[in-house]
Amino acid sequence: MASAPRKWHWIVRLSHWTTVVLLVPLFYTGLTGRMGHFSPSETHANLGVALLVVLLVRLLTKTVVARPAGYRSRISALVQAALYVVLFGLLVSGVAAVQNTAFLPRATVLGGLEIPTLGLVQPQLAGLVHRWMGYVLIGLVGLHVASAIWRWIGDRSFLSRIV
Ligand code: HEM
Ligand code: HEM
Repeated sequence: MASAPRKWHWIVRLSHWTTVVLLVPLFYTGLTGRMGHFSPSETHANLGVALLVVLLVRLLTKTVVARPAGYRSRISALVQAALYVVLFGLLVSGVAAVQNTAFLPRATVLGGLEIPTLGLVQPQLAGLVHRWMGYVLIGLVGLHVASAIWRWIGDRSFLSRIV
C-alpha cells in the first residue's frame, strides 16, 4: 500500500483557506444586509453560492485523496464533521429564510435571478435558525483553531498539513 502523504491534497488545502476567507464577508454582509426585510443582499447570496461550490469541490476531492499521516482524535473528527454540517445548515437555512413576497424587495442571486422560496418552514423561524447556526459556527471554529494550535505546540510541523 502507498504510504500516506504528509499534506492534504492541494485542492483540499486551497479550498480550506478559501472557505475561511469567504466566511469573513459572509458574516459581514449577513450582519449589515437588508435584515429589516428578511432578505439577504445579493452579495450575501452570491457569497453563499461561492461557498457551496467550494464545499462541494472539497468534499468530492476528499472522497478520492488520502488523509495525511498522523493521529486524529475522535473529538477533532467530530468538530470537523460538525463544521461541515453547520456550513451546509447555514446555506439551507439562509435560503429558507428568504421571503420573496409581493410586499418586499425581491431577493436575488447571480445577477438578478430571484431566489426560490422553499416554503418548507416559516421564514422567520429559518432566519432564527440561521442566526443561531452562525453563533454555533463561531464556537466550532474556536474549538477547531484552539485544537490546531494545541497540536502545533506539540508538533511544529502540524499546521503544514493544511498550508
Ligand atoms: C472558518 C474557519 C475554518 C473552518 C470552517 C475550517 C474547517 C476545517 C475542516 C472541515 C477540516 C477537516 C479537513 C477538511 O475537510 O479540509 C479542517 C482541517 C484543518 N484545519 Fe481548519 N477550518 C477553519 C479555520 C482554520 C484555521 C484558522 C486553522 C489554523 C489555525 C485551521 C487549521 C486546520 C488544520 C491544521 C487542519 C488539518 C487537520 C487534520 O488534518 O486532521 N483551520 N478545517
Ligand atoms: C455559510 C454561509 C452563511 C453565513 C455564515 C451567513 C451568515 C449570516 C449572518 C451572520 C446573518 C445575520 C443574522 C442576524 O443577525 O439575524 C445572516 C442573515 C441572513 N442570511 Fe445568511 N449566511 C450564510 C449564507 C446565506 C445564504 C446562502 C442565504 C440565502 C441565499 C442567506 C440568507 C440570509 C438571510 C435571508 C438573512 C436574514 C435573516 C433574518 O433577518 O432573519 N445566508 N446570515
